[in-house]
Amino acid sequence: AQGLPLSGKKVLITAGPTHEAIDPVRFLGNRATGKMGFALAKIAAEMGAKVILVSGPTHLNVNHANVELIRVTSARQMNEICHEHYDQMDVVIGAAAVADYRPKKVFKEKIKKQEGDLAIELERNPDILLSMGEQKTHQFLVGFALESENELENAKGKLKRKNLDAIVLNSLKDDGAGFAGDTNKISFIDKNLEIKTFDLKTKSEVASDIWKEIISRIHA
Ligand code: C5P
Repeated sequence: AQGLPLSGKKVLITAGPTHEAIDPVRFLGNRATGKMGFALAKIAAEMGAKVILVSGPTHLNVNHANVELIRVTSARQMNEICHEHYDQMDVVIGAAAVADYRPKKVFKEKIKKQEGDLAIELERNPDILLSMGEQKTHQFLVGFALESENELENAKGKLKRKNLDAIVLNSLKDDGAGFAGDTNKISFIDKNLEIKTFDLKTKSEVASDIWKEIISRIHA
Protein backbone atom coordinates (compact mmCIF):
# COMPACT_ATOMS: atom_id res chain seq x y z
CA ALA A 1 0.00 0.00 0.00
CA GLN A 2 1.05 3.58 -0.65
CA GLY A 3 1.72 5.88 2.26
CA LEU A 4 3.12 3.24 4.60
CA PRO A 5 6.64 4.02 5.84
CA LEU A 6 8.22 0.98 4.16
CA SER A 7 6.08 0.67 1.03
CA GLY A 8 8.20 -0.21 -1.99
CA LYS A 9 11.11 -1.34 0.22
CA LYS A 10 12.67 -4.79 0.08
CA VAL A 11 13.91 -6.15 3.37
CA LEU A 12 15.89 -9.27 4.25
CA ILE A 13 16.05 -10.49 7.85
CA THR A 14 17.97 -13.45 9.26
CA ALA A 15 16.56 -15.12 12.36
CA GLY A 16 16.95 -18.02 14.74
CA PRO A 17 19.88 -20.31 15.45
CA THR A 18 21.76 -22.41 12.94
CA HIS A 19 22.27 -26.14 13.35
CA GLU A 20 25.58 -27.60 12.26
CA ALA A 21 25.45 -31.32 11.58
CA ILE A 22 27.72 -33.72 13.47
CA ASP A 23 26.14 -36.92 12.14
CA PRO A 24 22.66 -37.79 10.76
CA VAL A 25 21.00 -37.36 14.17
CA ARG A 26 23.16 -34.82 16.02
CA PHE A 27 24.02 -31.17 15.60
CA LEU A 28 25.75 -28.22 17.23
CA GLY A 29 23.26 -25.46 18.00
CA ASN A 30 22.42 -22.58 20.34
CA ARG A 31 19.46 -21.32 22.37
CA ALA A 32 18.21 -18.62 19.98
CA THR A 33 14.46 -18.88 19.35
CA GLY A 34 14.01 -16.56 16.36
CA LYS A 35 11.54 -14.33 18.22
CA MET A 36 13.41 -11.06 17.60
CA GLY A 37 13.85 -11.68 13.87
CA PHE A 38 10.26 -12.82 13.39
CA ALA A 39 9.00 -9.73 15.26
CA LEU A 40 11.13 -7.50 13.00
CA ALA A 41 9.71 -9.24 9.92
CA LYS A 42 6.10 -8.83 11.06
CA ILE A 43 6.46 -5.12 11.81
CA ALA A 44 8.25 -4.48 8.49
CA ALA A 45 5.48 -6.32 6.61
CA GLU A 46 2.80 -4.30 8.39
CA MET A 47 4.68 -1.14 7.40
CA GLY A 48 4.43 -2.13 3.74
CA ALA A 49 7.82 -3.76 3.05
CA LYS A 50 8.29 -6.95 1.05
CA VAL A 51 10.17 -9.17 3.48
CA ILE A 52 12.37 -12.21 2.98
CA LEU A 53 12.81 -13.91 6.34
CA VAL A 54 15.66 -16.42 6.33
CA SER A 55 15.34 -18.51 9.45
CA GLY A 56 17.27 -21.32 11.03
CA PRO A 57 15.37 -24.09 12.86
CA THR A 58 12.56 -22.63 15.00
CA HIS A 59 9.00 -23.48 15.98
CA LEU A 60 7.78 -20.03 15.00
CA ASN A 61 5.61 -19.21 12.04
CA VAL A 62 4.58 -16.04 10.30
CA ASN A 63 1.39 -15.39 8.42
CA HIS A 64 1.54 -12.21 6.37
CA ALA A 65 1.24 -11.83 2.61
CA ASN A 66 4.34 -9.60 2.59
CA VAL A 67 6.62 -12.13 4.29
CA GLU A 68 8.34 -14.91 2.38
CA LEU A 69 9.75 -17.34 4.95
CA ILE A 70 12.76 -19.37 3.80
CA ARG A 71 13.77 -22.05 6.27
CA VAL A 72 17.39 -23.17 6.40
CA THR A 73 19.41 -25.36 8.73
CA SER A 74 23.08 -24.43 8.60
CA ALA A 75 25.11 -21.21 8.44
CA ARG A 76 26.30 -22.08 4.96
CA GLN A 77 22.72 -22.50 3.71
CA MET A 78 21.76 -19.19 5.33
CA ASN A 79 24.76 -17.52 3.70
CA GLU A 80 23.79 -18.82 0.26
CA ILE A 81 20.17 -17.61 0.47
CA CYS A 82 21.22 -14.19 1.78
CA HIS A 83 23.68 -13.61 -1.04
CA GLU A 84 21.16 -14.78 -3.63
CA HIS A 85 18.88 -11.87 -2.66
CA TYR A 86 21.33 -9.27 -1.35
CA ASP A 87 21.63 -7.11 -4.52
CA GLN A 88 17.88 -6.45 -4.65
CA MET A 89 17.51 -5.50 -0.98
CA ASP A 90 17.08 -2.04 0.53
CA VAL A 91 17.46 -3.01 4.19
CA VAL A 92 19.11 -6.11 5.67
CA ILE A 93 18.97 -7.05 9.36
CA GLY A 94 21.12 -9.87 10.74
CA ALA A 95 19.20 -11.06 13.78
CA ALA A 96 20.24 -14.72 13.52
CA ALA A 97 22.57 -16.35 16.03
CA VAL A 98 24.80 -17.89 13.39
CA ALA A 99 27.16 -20.62 14.58
CA ASP A 100 30.74 -19.39 14.28
CA TYR A 101 32.03 -22.96 13.83
CA ARG A 102 30.83 -26.21 12.29
CA PRO A 103 32.16 -29.76 12.65
CA LYS A 104 34.94 -30.22 10.13
CA LYS A 105 33.74 -33.70 9.25
CA VAL A 106 30.08 -34.75 9.13
CA PHE A 107 29.85 -38.46 9.92
CA LYS A 108 27.77 -40.42 7.40
CA GLU A 109 26.54 -42.84 10.07
CA LYS A 110 25.44 -42.18 13.63
CA ILE A 111 28.58 -41.99 15.79
CA LYS A 112 28.80 -45.05 18.07
CA LYS A 113 29.78 -44.93 21.72
CA GLN A 114 33.37 -45.89 22.20
CA GLU A 115 35.81 -46.31 25.05
CA GLY A 116 37.14 -43.01 26.34
CA ASP A 117 36.60 -39.49 25.04
CA LEU A 118 35.67 -38.23 21.63
CA ALA A 119 36.99 -35.03 20.06
CA ILE A 120 35.14 -33.19 17.33
CA GLU A 121 37.22 -30.78 15.28
CA LEU A 122 35.53 -27.52 14.26
CA GLU A 123 36.14 -25.16 11.37
CA ARG A 124 35.05 -21.58 10.85
CA ASN A 125 31.71 -20.74 9.27
CA PRO A 126 31.34 -17.81 6.90
CA ASP A 127 30.46 -14.52 8.63
CA ILE A 128 27.35 -13.64 6.64
CA LEU A 129 27.04 -10.06 7.83
CA LEU A 130 30.75 -9.35 7.33
CA SER A 131 30.62 -10.45 3.70
CA MET A 132 27.46 -8.41 3.10
CA GLY A 133 29.23 -5.39 4.60
CA GLU A 134 32.17 -5.91 2.26
CA GLN A 135 29.86 -6.14 -0.77
CA LYS A 136 27.55 -3.30 0.27
CA THR A 137 26.46 -0.93 -2.47
CA HIS A 138 23.21 0.82 -1.46
CA GLN A 139 21.80 -1.40 1.30
CA PHE A 140 21.13 -0.21 4.85
CA LEU A 141 22.80 -2.97 6.86
CA VAL A 142 21.96 -3.67 10.52
CA GLY A 143 23.59 -6.18 12.85
CA PHE A 144 22.96 -7.44 16.36
CA ALA A 145 25.52 -7.75 19.13
CA LEU A 146 25.06 -9.82 22.25
CA GLU A 147 27.89 -8.90 24.59
CA SER A 148 28.82 -9.99 28.08
CA GLU A 149 31.60 -7.45 28.71
CA ASN A 150 32.83 -4.12 27.29
CA GLU A 151 29.49 -4.08 25.54
CA LEU A 152 29.56 -0.64 23.93
CA GLU A 153 33.17 -0.90 22.77
CA ASN A 154 32.64 -4.38 21.31
CA ALA A 155 29.43 -3.35 19.57
CA LYS A 156 31.07 -0.27 18.05
CA GLY A 157 33.99 -2.44 16.93
CA LYS A 158 31.61 -4.80 15.11
CA LEU A 159 29.77 -1.89 13.52
CA LYS A 160 33.03 -0.65 11.98
CA ARG A 161 34.59 -4.02 11.16
CA LYS A 162 31.48 -5.33 9.40
CA ASN A 163 30.80 -1.99 7.65
CA LEU A 164 27.30 -1.74 9.15
CA ASP A 165 24.98 1.25 9.15
CA ALA A 166 23.71 0.42 12.63
CA ILE A 167 24.02 -2.20 15.32
CA VAL A 168 21.53 -3.28 17.98
CA LEU A 169 23.21 -4.09 21.27
CA ASN A 170 21.51 -6.37 23.73
CA SER A 171 23.28 -6.77 26.96
CA LEU A 172 23.54 -10.16 28.64
CA LYS A 173 23.72 -8.30 31.95
CA ASP A 174 20.16 -7.01 31.74
CA ASP A 175 17.54 -9.32 33.23
CA GLY A 176 14.97 -10.27 30.62
CA ALA A 177 17.16 -9.26 27.70
CA GLY A 178 18.69 -11.35 24.99
CA PHE A 179 18.07 -14.80 23.64
CA ALA A 180 15.21 -16.98 24.68
CA GLY A 181 12.68 -14.71 26.41
CA ASP A 182 9.81 -12.57 25.21
CA THR A 183 11.41 -9.30 26.28
CA ASN A 184 14.53 -7.43 25.32
CA LYS A 185 16.48 -4.34 26.33
CA ILE A 186 18.49 -2.73 23.57
CA SER A 187 20.66 0.16 22.55
CA PHE A 188 20.61 1.28 18.92
CA ILE A 189 23.96 2.58 17.66
CA ASP A 190 24.30 4.14 14.22
CA LYS A 191 27.45 4.58 12.16
CA ASN A 192 27.98 8.10 13.49
CA LEU A 193 28.08 6.41 16.91
CA GLU A 194 24.88 8.10 17.98
CA ILE A 195 23.47 5.87 20.72
CA LYS A 196 19.86 5.51 21.82
CA THR A 197 19.06 3.26 24.78
CA PHE A 198 15.56 1.84 25.32
CA ASP A 199 13.75 0.33 28.32
CA LEU A 200 12.99 -3.35 28.75
CA LYS A 201 10.07 -4.11 26.40
CA THR A 202 8.38 -6.98 24.58
CA LYS A 203 10.22 -8.10 21.45
CA SER A 204 7.36 -6.75 19.36
CA GLU A 205 7.75 -3.29 20.91
CA VAL A 206 11.52 -3.53 20.51
CA ALA A 207 11.02 -4.37 16.83
CA SER A 208 8.91 -1.21 16.39
CA ASP A 209 11.59 0.91 18.08
CA ILE A 210 14.29 -0.58 15.81
CA TRP A 211 12.23 0.09 12.68
CA LYS A 212 11.56 3.68 13.76
CA GLU A 213 15.30 4.24 14.05
CA ILE A 214 16.02 2.62 10.67
CA ILE A 215 13.21 4.48 8.88
CA SER A 216 14.35 7.88 10.17
CA ARG A 217 17.80 7.14 8.70
CA ILE A 218 16.79 5.72 5.32
CA HIS A 219 14.41 8.61 4.71
CA ALA A 220 16.77 11.27 5.97
O1 C5P B 1 30.65 -11.09 15.43
P1 C5P B 1 29.33 -11.45 16.04
O2 C5P B 1 28.93 -12.89 15.77
O3 C5P B 1 29.19 -11.10 17.49
O4 C5P B 1 28.30 -10.51 15.28
C1 C5P B 1 26.92 -10.65 15.45
C2 C5P B 1 26.21 -10.19 14.21
O5 C5P B 1 26.79 -10.82 13.05
C3 C5P B 1 24.76 -10.60 14.19
O6 C5P B 1 24.04 -9.61 13.47
C4 C5P B 1 24.78 -11.93 13.45
O7 C5P B 1 23.54 -12.21 12.83
C5 C5P B 1 25.88 -11.71 12.44
N1 C5P B 1 26.65 -12.94 12.08
C6 C5P B 1 26.58 -13.46 10.80
N2 C5P B 1 27.31 -14.58 10.47
C7 C5P B 1 28.12 -15.17 11.38
C8 C5P B 1 28.21 -14.64 12.69
C9 C5P B 1 27.46 -13.53 13.01
O8 C5P B 1 25.84 -12.93 9.96
N3 C5P B 1 28.82 -16.25 11.04
